[in-house]
Amino acid sequence: DSLEDIDTDIITLPRYITENQQNIKDARGDFTLVLNALGFAFKFISQTIRKAELINLVGITGNTNSTGDQQKKLDVLGDEIFINAMKGSGIVKLLVSEEQDDLIVFKHNDAKYAVCCDPIDGSSNLDAGVSVGTIVSIFKILPGSTGNVRDILRAGTEMVASCYAMYGASTHLLISMGNGNGVQGFTLDNNLGEFILVYPDLRIPPQRSIYSINEGNTYYWSDPIKQFVAQLKEPQQHIDGKPYSARYIGSMVADIHRTFLYGGLFAYPADAKNPNGKLRLLYEAFPMAMLIEQAGGKAVNDRGERILDLKPEHIHDKSSVWMGSTEDVDAYLRHIGKL
Ligand code: AHG
Ligand code: MN
Ligand code: MN
Ligand code: MN
Repeated sequence: DSLEDIDTDIITLPRYITENQQNIKDARGDFTLVLNALGFAFKFISQTIRKAELINLVGITGNTNSTGDQQKKLDVLGDEIFINAMKGSGIVKLLVSEEQDDLIVFKHNDAKYAVCCDPIDGSSNLDAGVSVGTIVSIFKILPGSTGNVRDILRAGTEMVASCYAMYGASTHLLISMGNGNGVQGFTLDNNLGEFILVYPDLRIPPQRSIYSINEGNTYYWSDPIKQFVAQLKEPQQHIDGKPYSARYIGSMVADIHRTFLYGGLFAYPADAKNPNGKLRLLYEAFPMAMLIEQAGGKAVNDRGERILDLKPEHIHDKSSVWMGSTEDVDAYLRHIGKL
């Protein structure tokens, strides 16, 4: 490198937040505390996962969580890391986690935020070395609340931010503060221990002939969904005359990250086994829907309803999801007569 090649004016996550405070719904320095705590949790989980094989941390605990998932050791460890990071922030009042039956309320009196998280997404893939991630949604607690379930049993449109970390070849972080601020993509520089901004204002391509769905569930889908997916395998006259390509990793974070960068359609429909779908609203569907919409994409359920307009009744409620490039989600909406 020559002198002028070295970029010395890099945007770290803390600097990005500081420079964009005005865009964060009525948050002052407090929000920076939440995001710094999130950044720490992601770095800690990333480092733990990468050494998991070396310290015999793979495999299962023998327990199942409240949504019936078998808990991996790293599910539990990721959950503990996350809980302690949120408690340590001093500004998070309550936490919902996939791995906790009930919400956790911290003792901090003037804490303002409610955080919902999926500590390790894609954990069934962990022992195969496939990319996994952490997904987070953030609400401000209601005025005067001392922290209870009403702070998070709300429409997704009331989230103030959402993000995910993906532990792949690099550790990636995509985050949105909503209200038109778009999506910012960061990559962890392990030497600096900082997330560096690499995708300012990430936009999802408007269309891409890729569909991402677990076809092992075909037998249990409704007929309209069977027909729609079957049609994707035929040459698409209105696009490029070719059928869609199938890409399914089985970790939502990895499938959605590819959808952000390449475009296409990700879906987890309801089926006879999971009548409300498999993905959880508060810490999978909501945060991903917010990120996808802020990057110019669409996120709806099987009935064509906007995910962010839905409202959970219980903290582990599930939803069917169709999300990704607008033109590809629109093809599904036209198929079910919603467009
Ligand atoms: P988690 O590992 O947090 O329980 O989430 C798993 C989810 C999601 O990551 C993925 O899209 C989906 O389960 C895959 O489900 P199938 O294995 O049924 O396709
Ligand atoms: Mn799980
Ligand atoms: Mn998950
Ligand atoms: Mn999980």
